[in-house]
Amino acid sequence: MIHIEHLKKYYGNFPAVDDISFDVARGEILGFLGPNGAGKTTTMKVITGFYPPNEGRITIDGRDVTEESLKTRAMIGYLPENTPLYHDLTVYEYLKHIADVRQIPNGEQKHRIRTMVEVTGLQHRLGQPISKLSKGFRQRVGLAQAMLHDPKVLVLDEPTIGLDPNQIVEIRDLIRKLGEEKTVILSTHILPEVQATCDRVVIIHQGKLVADGTPEQLQHRFQGRPVITLQVHGAPDDAGEKLLAIAGVETVDREQNSEANVKQFQIATGTTSDPRSDIFRLCVQQGWTLLGMTRRVESLESIFRQLTRRDEPAVPVEEVAA
Ligand SMILES: Nc1ncnc2c1ncn2[C@@H]1O[C@H](COP(=O)(O)OP(=O)(O)OP(=O)(O)O)[C@@H](O)[C@H]1O
Ligand SMILES: [Mg+2]
Repeated sequence: MIHIEHLKKYYGNFPAVDDISFDVARGEILGFLGPNGAGKTTTMKVITGFYPPNEGRITIDGRDVTEESLKTRAMIGYLPENTPLYHDLTVYEYLKHIADVRQIPNGEQKHRIRTMVEVTGLQHRLGQPISKLSKGFRQRVGLAQAMLHDPKVLVLDEPTIGLDPNQIVEIRDLIRKLGEEKTVILSTHILPEVQATCDRVVIIHQGKLVADGTPEQLQHRFQGRPVITLQVHGAPDDAGEKLLAIAGVETVDREQNSEANVKQFQIATGTTSDPRSDIFRLCVQQGWTLLGMTRRVESLESIFRQLTRRDEPAVPVEEVAA
């Protein structure tokens, strides 16, 4: 549905987006992840036709966003990073204005506004000026305006920013529900959000794509193998060989341990196997005292940190202040 091919976008000489390619399938919810300044907002602005790309191309449902910008814009609902709301207007007046801009026929406007207001839970706020709404409700107005013309594609730049935990859950549920019939690309810094909402994740860092896959695939690809740390008391020197004989165990490394008669092992296992119960049974059988056993699987959060570690040179304060 969304096809991005070798996209480059410069601000002056600075490549904010540097040769990014990925696709978003129809009905997919894609999480667009990256630290501050990674290029997420810039990419979204090119997708939505706000900026032309410097190089590469983007198509929405087969149409080029630069060549057919009016048509592609009509297919997209966009929640920008800083929702530009008209604060003097009431929620209803604002949505009515958007409906006019989006050229929704007069006869359909009320129905569309009513539907979006229900979907986003704004029923009791319709007559209130936007300036008097809390941040979370303004965010909902932003979402309602993005969806008003029933677009096929939703581009949401940090849709849950500024929301309280209850609202975050509601908006996530809403996005998941929308994702059943729409193609959604949403940016976020929040890892649990991706796991809770997204079918697929693209991670960018300093304008470059560093990972693309389902949350599970990324965990598999970057975690290596799950590792079990085992501590036992009273095990003989050949305990490692016995552990290695257990199905699913791939390697066993003995670690230094200063406590007398305590042995510690790092046991790497296959990505899908968890031989902890067999290890426990072996300990019981052999009469070793089990002091500790933990299994570590790399979290999406630590994958994200590994992939997006800062390697920019820091500018000294003196230089900026001078
Ligand atoms: N209008 C602009 N002029 C010059 N540089 C810009 C402009 N907008 C963004 N940049 C730079 O481009 C890079 C990417 O910015 P962008 O806003 O796309 O990042 P982001 O991933 O959305 O970050 P955040 O998570 O903080 O929203 C940053 O280094 C930023 O400073
Ligand atoms: Mg941004």
